[in-house]
Amino acid sequence: MAVPLLDLKRQYATIKNRMDAAVMKVLDHGLFILGPEVAELEGKIAVLSGARYGIGVASGTDALLLALRTVGVGAGDEVIVPDYSFISTTTVVSRLGAKPVFVDIEADTYNLDPNIIEAAITPKTRAIMPVHLFGQTADMNPILAVAKKHGLAVIEDAAQAIGAGYKDKKAGAIGDLGCFSFYPSKNLGGIGDGGMVIVSREEYRDMMKMLRVHGWTRKYDPDVVGYNSRLATIQAAALCVKLDYLAGWSEARRVHAAKYDAAFAATNIRIPVAKDYAYHIYNQYTIAVENREELMAALKEKNIGYDIYYPIPFHQLKCYADMGYQAGDFPASERASTSVVSIPVFPELTEAEQDEVIAVVKAVSA
Ligand SMILES: Cc1ncc(COP(=O)(O)O)c(C=O)c1O
Repeated sequence: MAVPLLDLKRQYATIKNRMDAAVMKVLDHGLFILGPEVAELEGKIAVLSGARYGIGVASGTDALLLALRTVGVGAGDEVIVPDYSFISTTTVVSRLGAKPVFVDIEADTYNLDPNIIEAAITPKTRAIMPVHLFGQTADMNPILAVAKKHGLAVIEDAAQAIGAGYKDKKAGAIGDLGCFSFYPSKNLGGIGDGGMVIVSREEYRDMMKMLRVHGWTRKYDPDVVGYNSRLATIQAAALCVKLDYLAGWSEARRVHAAKYDAAFAATNIRIPVAKDYAYHIYNQYTIAVENREELMAALKEKNIGYDIYYPIPFHQLKCYADMGYQAGDFPASERASTSVVSIPVFPELTEAEQDEVIAVVKAVSA
């Protein structure tokens, strides 16, 4: 039985009437740029996350870029990022002329290791950007403590973690600014690119709003050099509909994850470690195995969708070859990059499909 890694058509079929109506409504009212649905979504996501304001932008990548600008990161500054994430986490820092400073991850959660951040801080450090990878927040309290001690901003890359929890808080509203992506494969995915930043400080909200519209508050008269980075109204309309289902979809992912956890317990397959502090929303269910090549071959042969998030740690990216890092510099990140495989965990995955995935994975890697 073929099993996709993600099937957005299946999801659409369950909400088609509402989605079509929401999109048609935008076509009818014609307010395609910063129309009413954008403000509606911004308000709803701020409330859901426990922040005061949401600012819709064109993508998760832009959310990170504009958030860095908002806290004043620029040429010559340093920003601490985990060595292991989607590439935007680091390239946004480089695009501002700042230097990403890589820190190794925890071997079990794949998130930034709070215990080794302090050693990477220099007088040039301006911010720390933890990533809530795969839908589980980083261990934020010790990260916030280090940031406070050194006067650093904390920008959460919550691209994969909308609705995830950390103790009594929600992803994105723990640090100074939180960044979401609405890339279609996210738990809350748009019908194209989109992103949002959530903040509670008014000055950050105002700066974000300015940056996304060319850096101006008054037309054609920018205060700062800005961007064209707005969340399209049509995306916001679709996302407002989907938001009603987000909690249920994330719960369904957690149910699938629990079934995988039980099936792979007491085998050589390393299951994702869900920490007590976290409400994990499993944007990905990522296992680690010693024989990844063999497992990938078997999954491919059986037409089971999988992907490798991520195959190259930041310090080994070609675009950073001139930074002078060596193999072995970030052991946990390197180990993850050679052993992880993400398998289907989307909400609509059927029991029979999941049984098939379990059988194939266990036959090869248990
Ligand atoms: C951890 C992380 N950061 C940043 C991004 C960038 O988001 P986008 O693709 O919306 O630009 C993504 C998603 O692709 C991501 O997973």
